[in-house]
Amino acid sequence: MPLGSEVLRLDRVGKRYPMGDVIVDALVDASFTLNEGEAVAILGPSGSGKSTLMHLLGFLDSPSSGEILFEGRPVAVLTESQRARIRAEKIGFVFQAFNLLPRLSVRANVALPLAYHGSPPADAADRVSRALELVGMTNRAHHKPGELSGGQRQRVAIARALVNEPRILLADEPTGNLDTKTAAAILDLFKELNRLGRTIVVVTHSPEIAANFRRQLHVRDGRVTEGGSA
Ligand SMILES: Nc1ncnc2c1ncn2[C@@H]1O[C@H](COP(=O)(O)OP(=O)(O)OP(=O)(O)O)[C@@H](O)[C@H]1O
Ligand SMILES: [Mg+2]
Repeated sequence: MPLGSEVLRLDRVGKRYPMGDVIVDALVDASFTLNEGEAVAILGPSGSGKSTLMHLLGFLDSPSSGEILFEGRPVAVLTESQRARIRAEKIGFVFQAFNLLPRLSVRANVALPLAYHGSPPADAADRVSRALELVGMTNRAHHKPGELSGGQRQRVAIARALVNEPRILLADEPTGNLDTKTAAAILDLFKELNRLGRTIVVVTHSPEIAANFRRQLHVRDGRVTEGGSA
């Protein structure tokens, strides 16, 4: 797909959680488009709906109203297995809490998404090596997650998110648990990945981090607005 083409589009998307007698409108009427090659920061106070939005962008959850289109196709009409395939092949997800499997080596953790649909591809070993190289973790390939620093674990999580060479990388506060220096290194890595053509969406509480991204979306009380200061 050429640079600038549409990857994801939200059309008046809402997410509402019924909680007993109370209804939480976690996301209200969100409409925007993510284009190929964009770098977007999502900002907003705690509880404003950022993670809810990220889950919807990654098809980890479905909207209560409105429509989400992936590459122009409504996600709602896809079967669960079609959605799972797109998620596995085209979307990389990085969470704040790393979510690495403690008993597996770094290499085995990074290789996990490759075996998602049965047997791994013939070039699986090469792909894992390339992903580890990209995040600078080649020399820790045989360590277990418990033998790594926080920043190193986050790098492994990013390598795992990239091993399928996804079109879009979604990261929900990927530097929230890290010291300033490590956070800056992860941020540089995202910038480099974007320079190489990846579409990147990063949730952050930090206006300084957000300033590194060409586009900013603000979420407040479930409402998404474009640009402006944090
Ligand atoms: N599974 C759920 N069931 C009910 N309410 C939920 C659920 N998930 C989130 N919420 C509510 O939706 C709102 C938005 O939550 P969300 O996790 O998207 O916020 P956030 O912006 O990511 O916050 P933070 O910065 O603290 O991570 C909150 O009021 C939260 O309580
Ligand atoms: Mg959150």
